[in-house]
Amino acid sequence: MNIITGKAKVAAVLGWPVEHSRSPLLHNFWLKRYGIDGVYIPLAVKPENFKKVIIGLSASGFKGCNITIPNKEIAFSCCDEVDEIARKIGSVNTLTFKNDGKIFGTSTDGAGFIESLRDHNIRIKNCNVLILGAGGAARSVISSLAHEKAKITIANRTNSRALQLAQDLGTGNVIAWDTWTSLLGQYDLLVNTTSLGMEGKESFDFDLSKAKSGLVVTDIVYVPRLTPLLKVAKEFNLKTIEGLGMLLHQARFGFREWFGVDPMVDSETIEYVAKTI
Ligand code: ATR
Repeated sequence: MNIITGKAKVAAVLGWPVEHSRSPLLHNFWLKRYGIDGVYIPLAVKPENFKKVIIGLSASGFKGCNITIPNKEIAFSCCDEVDEIARKIGSVNTLTFKNDGKIFGTSTDGAGFIESLRDHNIRIKNCNVLILGAGGAARSVISSLAHEKAKITIANRTNSRALQLAQDLGTGNVIAWDTWTSLLGQYDLLVNTTSLGMEGKESFDFDLSKAKSGLVVTDIVYVPRLTPLLKVAKEFNLKTIEGLGMLLHQARFGFREWFGVDPMVDSETIEYVAKTI
């Protein structure tokens, strides 16, 4: 355990439920690694209590917090200032409480995803990407990929949601859910942003037989580490990128803002968090 003094910098993750969050483990690992007088705690906050908790945390000298499901949209409405990406997707996962009392919000999920691709030397510009899903996670990932000039196609079980998402973000071609398997040969990168294959959720019989040999397969699900999609991809000898990298990279922004160090996502960090999966 780190030594925590009266001057400690304090941050938190707010969720409902929050027990599943790996953020406390990760931030406290980095705090210890960099010898920072600080602490990061989990707070179980119901949506109806969210605003008053935020005001309380800000007034108590907290440096900031991460926001997880289901509070990312309410958090957006609590901000005095947001950046372009947060404005585009209408939700935030990171708040910083500034010295002047103002609350700054951003969403780092998409940037975390991009960084995890960079760790694997994936060229994003002009990359033909097929996104599975059209929920909040897809929104973050697509915004950031489009910002990096990738070419986006979306397939979602409920087609109208995919069309709405493409319209909201002003990017993305939409194909029908029951056609993506047969069209897979057109894409360089496949990203699963649905909950399919997540522990405790429905699985899916992913068919990657039409993939070209250079297809890179990524899943933003990280529990289990080897998701059903990644398992099939490995059987086809395709390059795979697990979701854990995105989780670790998305945390860097908040850590840097609150604790003043840009933490490294290295194999020691990955293995430390992976032990709990
Ligand atoms: P999040 O904000 O975490 O992305 P979400 O908004 O609930 O969560 O979105 C979950 C995604 O998983 C959606 O794209 C959903 O498809 P629908 O829009 O049709 O609901 C997708 N999903 C969930 N269960 C699915 C299933 N059994 N088959 C196909 N897609 C599924």
